[in-house]
Amino acid sequence: MKQLNLGNSGLNASAVALGCMRIGELPAEKLERLFFAALEAGINFFDHADIYGGGLCETRFGELLARHPGLREKILLQSKCGIRKGFFDFSKKHILESVEGSLKRLQTDRLDLLLLHRPDTLMEPEEVAEAFQLLYDSGKVRHFGVSNENPTQMELLQKFLPRKLIVNQLQFGPAHTSLVDCGLNVNINSSAGTMFDGSVLEYCRLREVTIQTWSPFLFGFFEGNFLVDSRFAELNTTLGRIGERYGISREATAIAWIARHPARIQTIIGTTRADRVADYSRGADVELTREEWYEIYRSAGNRLP
Ligand SMILES: NC(=O)c1ccc[n+]([C@@H]2O[C@H](COP(=O)([O-])OP(=O)(O)OC[C@H]3O[C@@H](n4cnc5c(N)ncnc54)[C@H](OP(=O)(O)O)[C@@H]3O)[C@@H](O)[C@H]2O)c1
Repeated sequence: MKQLNLGNSGLNASAVALGCMRIGELPAEKLERLFFAALEAGINFFDHADIYGGGLCETRFGELLARHPGLREKILLQSKCGIRKGFFDFSKKHILESVEGSLKRLQTDRLDLLLLHRPDTLMEPEEVAEAFQLLYDSGKVRHFGVSNENPTQMELLQKFLPRKLIVNQLQFGPAHTSLVDCGLNVNINSSAGTMFDGSVLEYCRLREVTIQTWSPFLFGFFEGNFLVDSRFAELNTTLGRIGERYGISREATAIAWIARHPARIQTIIGTTRADRVADYSRGADVELTREEWYEIYRSAGNRLP
């Protein structure tokens, strides 16, 4: 599978990563099959958060790693912190405690990447910087990034950090296109032309920050899954038809659509099925044409000026 140099940091990760938000309730043998199918498909990057399954997702993953000594060295592990029940918390104390919890549950001595999960408007960037420094110096976290942040929030934090933020994890997919809508509708008085993310896609390209996309098959804020929603019939038909040309499924074609963007976006898929991981991963290695990319965009109901 194609590899991406995350944030130009030298951390090379598979273009498709496996998100572990939904693995908490999987029976151990199903989790094993999923994990090894991911490795077999070329996935070396696994996305977690302290809150997934209330900690259970990291625990189950840690148990799997413990059953297979030597596996930890073959993969990259990312986790996130900063979301708490009813509020957000980027305090030094919480960041440090959260990482300790993740390391314990994952049964590892280090995270390859730590992301701040969702903006905390009460953030004191100096405090975050202190926490990051301690984590870096102790070898507990190798790289840092954010999730769901706009460019100004990133700049504010970056001003205080000695090391570069290398990732911003955002929602993007054929049925959730806000990252590109505004740039396609500049100066047009319509909802598509309304800038509400500060041109974060262009900012990340300028600063060489890798965008990771979460929930590639969902639309809205956890509103639904376009693969099984009749409102996206045309999108599904188009993905299927274009996918046939390359011998891949419509789901893999959706991944190819994300991977085709020159921002070199890393896709975090969240399936819990081993057979789907193998299939979906193939999408990252298919290069859609420009015409196909725009056709998929239009078939999701988007209009071009
Ligand atoms: N930073 C953030 O704020 C944030 C937010 C949400 C998620 N995330 C990360 O992103 C990862 C991916 O999110 P996600 O799980 O929502 O992504 P997703 O891959 O868009 O959705 C996965 C869901 O789609 C289902 N699915 C897959 N193929 C299907 C098909 N052909 N027909 C019907 N359903 C199908 C899966 O069910 P099966 O398991 O049965 O395949 C699973 O329930 C998470 O694991 C997490 O790591 C981050």
